[in-house]
This record gives sequence, structure tokens and C-alpha cells, in this order.
Amino acid sequence: MSRLALISYLIVWMVSCQEKRPDLQLLDTVRLTEMGLKVEVLADSLVVPWDLEVDSQGFLWVAEQEGRVSRINLQTAEKQHMLLIPDVWQQRTSGLLGMAIHPDFAKQPFVYLNYTVNRDSVITSKLVKYEFEGEGLTSGQLLLEIEGGTSHNGSRLAFGPDGMLYWATGDTHDFGYAQDPKKLNGKILRMGADGSIPADNPDPSSYVWALGFRNMQGLAFSDLGLLYTSEHGDAIEDEVNLIRAGANYGWPAIEGKHNLLEEISFAEYNRAIEPIRSWTPVIAPAGMAFYGKDEIPEWGNSLLLTTLKGKSLRILHLAANGLSIDKEEVLFENHYGRLRDVCVGQQGEIYISTSNRDWNPQPGFPLVGDDKILKISVANELNASSLIPSVPLAYSALDGKQLYINYCASCHKEDGKGLTGTYPALAGSQVVNGEIDALVKMLVRGKGQMPAFAFLSNQESSQILSYIRESWGNQAPEVSSGEVEQNR
Ligand code: HEC
Repeated sequence: MSRLALISYLIVWMVSCQEKRPDLQLLDTVRLTEMGLKVEVLADSLVVPWDLEVDSQGFLWVAEQEGRVSRINLQTAEKQHMLLIPDVWQQRTSGLLGMAIHPDFAKQPFVYLNYTVNRDSVITSKLVKYEFEGEGLTSGQLLLEIEGGTSHNGSRLAFGPDGMLYWATGDTHDFGYAQDPKKLNGKILRMGADGSIPADNPDPSSYVWALGFRNMQGLAFSDLGLLYTSEHGDAIEDEVNLIRAGANYGWPAIEGKHNLLEEISFAEYNRAIEPIRSWTPVIAPAGMAFYGKDEIPEWGNSLLLTTLKGKSLRILHLAANGLSIDKEEVLFENHYGRLRDVCVGQQGEIYISTSNRDWNPQPGFPLVGDDKILKISVANELNASSLIPSVPLAYSALDGKQLYINYCASCHKEDGKGLTGTYPALAGSQVVNGEIDALVKMLVRGKGQMPAFAFLSNQESSQILSYIRESWGNQAPEVSSGEVEQNR
């Protein structure tokens, strides 16, 4: 080979290497009924990637809870730093929580971020519009600042097909806010891309688009232009709602489906709308995206929902008119840990983020390389040990341990050790091992951040209390159903 030929060969080789797609690490394959999927690692070593968004230019934008924004080139998997927010306040569930990309990003290169701020113990939630200028995000312009809290700050942002920006805000754990139309907390707010109040809002002088929410972490538009949210319930009734302009979704007067007498009368009087799906025991639903692409036809017209407590991806198959959920499937349960967000790419591929480095670590997690962004796309070949989506089991009364895991372990942990400074240990607790009447009252009425469990039957309560009194070294006598009934 002549020298010239060798040099030109090397140049061609180098260029082709540069253009070659990187080999992403293959984690698993998934067997659907008609086709297969693969799960690969797009990015790792992140810290709670709370929001993922795809732009129209081939990049995936990532917002990490501690205030960092990056974008990943989907051709090369190269990650570029875009912004570190200086005044973000990150603790437990506060921090950088919501992100939206302007739908006409090529001409309007704006990225919208929502994050929590704490100035001398005054906590607020800011919505800021940044401009992308080639190298990063600059010129932050504050569009709106609302009350924040130590918890329940939501939040998600999404642009609608009408070009308006929607913001799902949390109730900051204040029971008066969600039903107060003057407060911007516990609401879905609607505004123009410049932060102005649109003239066709239900009240043209207010951002409020819908009210009566607790703490939403999912907000997604379908191809039909319908808006869906996912919302954390208290101890029961996590929800997915279909949002109508001006409607009331009931919190805190109503939890989940309208099945109690007080709920039915409140709903009639306030014309409140029922969720299209609710879960008890709770699954802690987080990010949600609509899947309407052709690449994975089996998931067409579905909502993809990540869950934290449930540690899974749920596929919620919508009816053709989008008004109800026909079927639910569960994938990756306990496999990658807590999942925080999901988004759909231009080629029908799906991205999900793990949340194993957040405030509530689970046994066995974080895994090496957490937190990660995983890419799910069509596979040509499948492993012998492919994962398979399952249908969630109907919940039926289980033994004390199962009930404890379903209702209590998210806070007090499976080993009964709680979370230092936040959730007391039940192992060795004087309340657990002490007088039965005080223990039953604690369970039924709740206290502070401990939810009330009055909805549990006497039988279920006696099973749970007996279980916690004889586990983790506790040795107190069991509690009968009759004793629960007497002390309610
Ligand atoms: C959302 C989190 C959460 C869940 C779920 C939860 N708890 Fe608690 N629990 C707490 C908190 C917070 C406290 C401390 C309350 C206080 O003293 O202000 C607490 C306190 C307790 C105590 C008193 C412990 C002590 O030593 O003071 C008992 C007993 C208890 N919980 C039992 C349960 C049982 C049984 C369940 C399930 C049916 C449950 N909890 C579910 C948050 C939770």
C-alpha cells in the first residue's frame, strides 16, 4: 500500500469510527407478545435524574434534582453540561423538579425549569425560562414564583398542543390550598410561553386550569390532545386523572374513587371528577409519558408510568377515545429500583431514569452505576432469560407481613429500622411494645407525617399490629380484632 493510500485509508477509518454509534451496554431484553425489546444504558453515575425531555434536534435533556441540567447527544451518547442552578434548595423531595422544552425549539431555543428555593426559611417554587445559546443555558428569566414547602412541591411542566405551558404544582402539604382557587398550589396552571395568563383560561385573571390536587409527578398529553396526570395519594389511592378545564379533582375532601358517602356528596356539590385509575396499596407514581409511536405497536395509545415504591414501569393501555384505561401491565418490577421519569424519543424509543440515589433508598439499591438513564428500543434478538410484562395481581387481604410491606414499609422499612430523623424505628419502639389502646389510636388516627389508617379493617389492623409487635426483636403480645374495634 502506498503511503498516500495508507493515509487516506486511515482518514476514512477515523471518520467512520467517529460516526459509528456507540455500543451501549445491554442490560436485558423484554419479550412482548409479538416482538422483542432491548434495554441499554444510555448514561450512568447521575444523581436522581428527575426529568427527561427530548428536543427536536436529537438530544435528550436531563434535569438532576440537585440542580444540574445536561443534554445527551442521542447519536454519540456524549453528555454536555448545560447549567448548574445556583439557588436551588435540594432536600428530600425538593430541588430541580420540572423541565419543558419549547415545542418549536429550532426557532425558540427555550428550556423551562421549575425548582425549589429556600431564602431564610421562606421556601418557594420558581418557574424560570432559560435560553440555549450553543454552549449552555443562560439568561434565566423568572416567569412565576409560588409558595413552596418542605414536601409536596410536585412538579411537572409540559407544553400542550395549544402551545400553552402547563405546570402541575404540589399542595406543599397544606390541607387548605388545593381547594382554594386563589392559591396556586395543588393546581394545574396554564400560561403562555412567555408566562402570561391566557385569555381563555377558566378565569381569565388566573393561571388556574384545574384544582384539587395533592402532589403530582406526572403530566402528559396524548395524541388526541388529552391531558393526564399522575398523583401521589396519602396512605391510599394513588391516582391517574384525565384533566378537564376548570374541573375539581377533590383533594383533600376526596381520596381516589368516590366511594364514601362524604366523597359522593362533595363530588356532587363541587362537580368533582373521579380518577380514571387509582391504586391502593399505593405504588408512588412518578413520571408519565404518552406512547403513540408505530415502533412498538403493542404499546400504542398507552400511558407509560414510572413508579417509585412500586419500582416498575406500568403500561396503561387507553381506550381508543382516551377516556378510560382498559388494561394495565407491569414491567421491571424491583429490577432497576425506583424509577423517576420516562419520555419517548423521535424514533419510538423510550428513556427511563432510575432514582436510587434519592432520599428514600431501598434494600439492595443503589446498583453499581446508579443513577442511570436506560434506553428501551426494538430488539432483533432476545436473550433466553428475557423479562416479560405481567398483569398486576388483584389485591386480596394477605398476612401481617404482606400488609406491613404494602402499607408501612415505604416509611418504616422492611427491617423496621425506619429512616433516621424522618421515620421512627418500630424495632424496639416503646409505642409498638406498649399499651394496646395507644398503639391502635396511633394507627387509626395517624400523627404528624404518619398517615391515618382508619380505612384498614379491624382484621387487617390486628394482623399488622401483631406482626410489628413480634418482629425485629419485639416481643409484645399480639393484638386481636376485638381490641382494635374497642380502641378505634
Ligand atoms: C408516610 C410515612 C408513614 C407510613 C406509610 C407509616 N408511618 Fe408510621 N410513622 C410515620 C411517622 C412520620 C411517625 C412519627 C410520628 C410522630 O411521632 O410525629 C410514625 C410513627 C409510627 C409509630 C410510633 C413509633 C414511635 O416509636 O413513636 C408507629 C407504631 C407506627 N408509625 C406504625 C405504623 C404502621 C403500623 C404503619 C402501616 C400501617 C405505618 N406506621 C405507616 C410515618 C409513616
